Amino acid sequence: MHFKEILEKKRNSDLLSEEEIKYFVNAYTKGDIPDYQVSALLMAIFLNGLSIDETVCLTEAMLYSGTVVDLSNVPGIKVDKHSTGGVGDKTSLIVAPICAALGVPVPMISGRGLGHSGGTLDKLESIPGFNVNQDLNTYKKIVAETGLCLIGQTKEIAPADKKMYALRDVTCTVENKSLISASIMSKKMAEGIDALLLDVKTGSGAFMKTEKDSEELASIMISIGKKMGKKMTALITDMNQPLGSHVGNALEVVESMEVLKGNTLPEQKDLEELSFILAAHMLVLGGKTDDVDNAMEMVQTTIKDLSAFKKFKEVTTVQNGNAAALDDVSMLPTANNTHLIKAEDDGYIQKIDALLVGKGSVLLGAGRLTLDTVIDPAVGVIVRKKIGDKIKKGDLLFEIKYNDEMKLKQSLSYFEESFLIDSQKVSKPELVKKVITDEG
Ligand code: URA
Repeated sequence: MHFKEILEKKRNSDLLSEEEIKYFVNAYTKGDIPDYQVSALLMAIFLNGLSIDETVCLTEAMLYSGTVVDLSNVPGIKVDKHSTGGVGDKTSLIVAPICAALGVPVPMISGRGLGHSGGTLDKLESIPGFNVNQDLNTYKKIVAETGLCLIGQTKEIAPADKKMYALRDVTCTVENKSLISASIMSKKMAEGIDALLLDVKTGSGAFMKTEKDSEELASIMISIGKKMGKKMTALITDMNQPLGSHVGNALEVVESMEVLKGNTLPEQKDLEELSFILAAHMLVLGGKTDDVDNAMEMVQTTIKDLSAFKKFKEVTTVQNGNAAALDDVSMLPTANNTHLIKAEDDGYIQKIDALLVGKGSVLLGAGRLTLDTVIDPAVGVIVRKKIGDKIKKGDLLFEIKYNDEMKLKQSLSYFEESFLIDSQKVSKPELVKKVITDEG
């Protein structure tokens, strides 16, 4: 079999066989096919699509490119949550310690920034010393002893996704249901979970712009998870404006810690609400209760008694991070400069286009433009007003945190064009559009 034949077939919209999919995934993981040829295949898949059968084969090939972790020694139902990607979407940093504090083990394998969206690993690495590259045995030990472990794809676990994810990020081949499903489900099925909550984003800052596409994506992933014997729930949630206020790696850690400490500002209420709803669904999947309202009350206790914040500090220490930086966030990377954008009119915020905010943040240095880009953990934007807010001329809309004047210049128009103010009243967007369980 030669890779060029596979490439040619997909370019011509032909179906790939199971052997062809297995061959290219294994050969690419081993380093036998160069990035430029796999980039071409990813673009052919992006343009011509994969059938459901091809998508399942790709997921399985990516899953078995590494080890499928056995966590049967850890008591309890192991539950994880994964988002399909958004802007300011930092809920993993909040829901994982909440659930672990309540006794639901959370083994979590996350990704880096992808396209215009942020990534949990980049956020965690902005905490000095935090190591997301734990080997298999250490990962298992941390889950067993701490109740959660936050890592990335490794050479041992989901190595195919590690390489393909990074390549998709810089080749504009992210927004495809099959590639997203295979990427998410290959690492989630490898991490040793019993149940998975999917946060499937919809709207301008999501990879799926319509609810119909988001539901289709959810149903592909639910059927893959069910086939592999996992309990699955998906929430379709709004991603038309950034979630919460902070966008950028260290900035998102700062905001997440405020939520865990119960100190949210009005512009952070959507983040707090969605995180608590997600955590409540994870508790239901984890068998702690069968009632979401009851689970919401359990979530509240972990904020009031600071047990979720303490759990996050504990896992940070265990993963070699400096937990003192979570108490004193001035120890996190901080940008040298701030540029303010203020309202030029009175009125109501009609729109804050999450896609433009995400793209602007990548250009500021929060994300990658090439495989070798070194991100700047300190930069990003703080969004001070949200859709539906009444504002007066001169009110602060955005605080842009930057280190490089040239990058600020390149990104500024994205932020300036992202919002729309008008005299008409608008209501706040509905956060959760739909809940889909594996029973339909
Ligand atoms: N999250 C992932 O892990 N992969 C994708 O492709 C998109 C979101």
